Amino acid sequence: MPYDRMKDFLAELERRGKLRHITEPVDRTWEPACLAKWMYQAMPNDERFGLYFDHVRGSEIPLVTAALGASTHTYAAALEVEPERINEKIVQALLNPIAPRTVPSAPCQEIVRQGENARLSDLPIPTWTPGKDAGPYITTIVVSRDAYGGFQNFGVYRTQVLDDHSVVINLSPGRHGFRCVHSYLDQGKPAPIAWVIAAEPAVHFATVANLVYGAEEVGFAGGLKGAPVDLVKATTVDLMVPAAAEIIIEGEILPDETANEGPFGEFAGFMGPVLVRPRAHIKAITHRRDPIYYGLTSQMPPSESTVMQSLTNAGVILKTLRHDLGESTVRDVHIDLTFGGLLAHGIVAMKPLHPHHGKRVGRILADLTPLKRITVVDADVDIRDATHLEWALNSCFNPERDTVILDDVYFPLYMDPSIRTADGHEAPGSKIIIDATQKIDAGSFSLPPRETMMRALERWRELGLPEFKIPPRAWFRIQRS
Ligand SMILES: Cc1cc2nc3c(=O)[nH]c(=O)nc-3n(C[C@H](O)[C@H](O)[C@H](O)COP(=O)(O)O)c2cc1C
Repeated sequence: MPYDRMKDFLAELERRGKLRHITEPVDRTWEPACLAKWMYQAMPNDERFGLYFDHVRGSEIPLVTAALGASTHTYAAALEVEPERINEKIVQALLNPIAPRTVPSAPCQEIVRQGENARLSDLPIPTWTPGKDAGPYITTIVVSRDAYGGFQNFGVYRTQVLDDHSVVINLSPGRHGFRCVHSYLDQGKPAPIAWVIAAEPAVHFATVANLVYGAEEVGFAGGLKGAPVDLVKATTVDLMVPAAAEIIIEGEILPDETANEGPFGEFAGFMGPVLVRPRAHIKAITHRRDPIYYGLTSQMPPSESTVMQSLTNAGVILKTLRHDLGESTVRDVHIDLTFGGLLAHGIVAMKPLHPHHGKRVGRILADLTPLKRITVVDADVDIRDATHLEWALNSCFNPERDTVILDDVYFPLYMDPSIRTADGHEAPGSKIIIDATQKIDAGSFSLPPRETMMRALERWRELGLPEFKIPPRAWFRIQRS
């Protein structure tokens, strides 16, 4: 059964022991963020859990973070698959999107507060890098609309709270939300905007997918959910928002109104600079009768944002290579879980069909995505297994022959600390492609033949030696022995 609301997913996580309640009152200006930081900095992927703060001082609404992207396990749980099926689920959802359904009324509008009654301080919005961030930040889905195409865009753009009724949004040039907002502002018209707090999990994952401009994330979300996402008309702006969300903040950006945004702790692990960004006025806050607030944890990786963005965009790339570009021998794609899935390391497992095929696929990805390092290995390498990946690199990669460096590439993201100064200036970057597919037949593997190994496995069991789960690395190698 698909999760129709965030609370259903949280209940399932709790059942699996992957959600912890903190019942003592907490101070939103430092405690939730710092506790989440300890979890991500100190605990391994397999042990992390969502954090549910029942009592946040000064607010009647509980705060949840790190549940969607605590780890590969919570992400997979939200998609109702095992971790090894995540990519396939994303590919199928992209191939079979489900259009949203419009509903006349919605749980997210059970309570409607407009104008002066819509106060941001009623929400338990945390400060994410206490002592360094410019203030509390809303870290969630931002909905905007293209004035010409009529389509809506969902993206996460961090939003700094300025006061009870206004915010400044990090709508970076080049981002789809920026284009949508400017399609109004450039005509001298106010741009509608809305923040969606705690929609069903699929909507949050689809939002961080890097799709082409105009491809509506909400259809992808429907594909992930296996059912249409219900949308309802916002109460004060011309936008359709997820009906099952816990809270919706509605706003408007007026032409030429800007404010300083930042500093803010960014996904790359450094503080972002102060930049001039669009300012928005809050027109309404609507919510359920018993809402929860959800804020995505980012900053120093690993973090919730890196888990969500890396896993989602690996699936998007797999679909693009296999289904849009006809690279049918690509078996798997993985993005390292430490750098927001953007300027990170992308690894492709594929069967090359002709000389330099691996390099060619690497170059395509370098052009299409913000990935900074791309490694291509053979299809029978488990790219999530560091031991196997290192072996493939050490055994198949001849640096002088197999490296491509692309210089002077510019992707409109100013967050790469290797090319950006602390005050926000940046130089064009470069990218590296490593083709570590096997090009020379180095002979037979130094393992006994397959039949002998299978006989030995039976002997292992007969001898009562400890049971083990056979990792893909071992299967792949024994097939070729
Ligand atoms: C917690 C979090 C915060 C983010 N903040 C920003 C941001 O401030 N600006 C930005 O350009 N991308 C940000 N991102 C990444 C984008 O949301 C993501 O790449 C998304 O796909 C962009 O949507 P778009 O391609 O429709 O523009 C953030 C992601 C997460 C998970």
